[in-house]
Amino acid sequence: MAEALRVGIAGLGTVGASVVRMLQNKASELTRQCGRQIAPVAVSARDRTRDRGIDLGNAQWFDDPVALARSSEVEVFVELIGGEDGIALESVRAALEAGRHVVTANKALLSKHGVALAAIAEKKGVLLNYEAAVAGGIPVIKTMREALAGNHVSRVFGIMNGTCNYILTRMEAEGLSFEDCLKDAQRLGYAEADPTFDIEGHDTAHKLSILTSLAFGCRISADDIYMEGISNITQADIRAAAELGYRIKLLGVAQKTDSGIEQRVHPTMVPVSSVIAQVHGVTNAVAIETDMLGELLLSGPGAGGDATASAVIGDIADIAKSRPGFQHGPVFGRPAKELAPYKRARMRAHAGGYFIRLTVHDRTGVFAAIARRMADNDISLESIVQHGDASEEAHKTVILVTHETMEASVRKAVEGITKDGHLTTKPQVIRIERAA
Ligand code: HSE
Repeated sequence: MAEALRVGIAGLGTVGASVVRMLQNKASELTRQCGRQIAPVAVSARDRTRDRGIDLGNAQWFDDPVALARSSEVEVFVELIGGEDGIALESVRAALEAGRHVVTANKALLSKHGVALAAIAEKKGVLLNYEAAVAGGIPVIKTMREALAGNHVSRVFGIMNGTCNYILTRMEAEGLSFEDCLKDAQRLGYAEADPTFDIEGHDTAHKLSILTSLAFGCRISADDIYMEGISNITQADIRAAAELGYRIKLLGVAQKTDSGIEQRVHPTMVPVSSVIAQVHGVTNAVAIETDMLGELLLSGPGAGGDATASAVIGDIADIAKSRPGFQHGPVFGRPAKELAPYKRARMRAHAGGYFIRLTVHDRTGVFAAIARRMADNDISLESIVQHGDASEEAHKTVILVTHETMEASVRKAVEGITKDGHLTTKPQVIRIERAA
């Protein structure tokens, strides 16, 4: 049998501890599958004394993750530290430069430095694996990078943040407030250290930027993402969506259009009958639309120690199975230097359906004025519904659903309605996404 693969793990939080535990518990199974042992021979973390509920055995302890990354004791450096710069970047770069394979779950790091790191990995002939960085345990990177060879991807979209999906699911199912659901998500360990990263869409944006590169062969561009979070979603939106046959999900969407690539993260209405609308709680799902497959949907656990560890271990196992001299595929599907520049499509040019919820003064002519603004901007309406507002006699809620139209037209129409002075609160606009 080949020699054991020597692995160093930096970062022993929930995921890191789970990786160590699973490598131990599943040692014989992994050895059988890989044809060699996977040995966690070294670790690094901030606090040496903390009880993590794992047995670190004879693993060598490094106070400095960069020293671990460079150590000739390890062949694979597993980065589970987190953060887009700092020690995570320094250690991953050091490992690649030293000719070590790298496995990382760090979406923020990859979304900012992925292409530069890929270039080093490719030059050094080592692997940079990052399955756990997108959608936790779902093998979406492997699917896009390997299984979809020859497919032409037109759109990739999905629920990539467990915290947001958990919050939206419970708000809908139990009528709970946004704040209460967020507290539970934090207690259960789904949310990032700073939960604004989850709820304002940054976490989804980081993941989406990686999928965009794989889908369209372009450089990663996480700064070019239109982003809206879910903190403005209310029970009124959730109830209106249900009445109209929709469900609200925070989606990340990357799509090829005539004017470039759209990358957007926002609360989205999806038909309640669609498969993605059935994805509840902390579960993630990624839909990939291709010429050969139509829509492929992968769903599964997107957060949590064991689910993320599953993806990390899959990446380590791939390295254990690779052989010296074997030509590794490029990190982002095509060589880093051949990735095309990212060409951003303007959000104002986005074409799609829109849900618009307006709270208006209850007086003559309001309905007609709204309809006029829509017509003036060439917006064709699929439905228009008016509700009395039980809490405030003098107010009415008007809900409009448009046929496919341009974002610029919707913005102009809503600006016009606001100027007309009929609204009592800020208008709510939610994009509708086509989904199978
Ligand atoms: N905070 C993330 C989520 C964890 O809620 O999905 C995985 O990236």
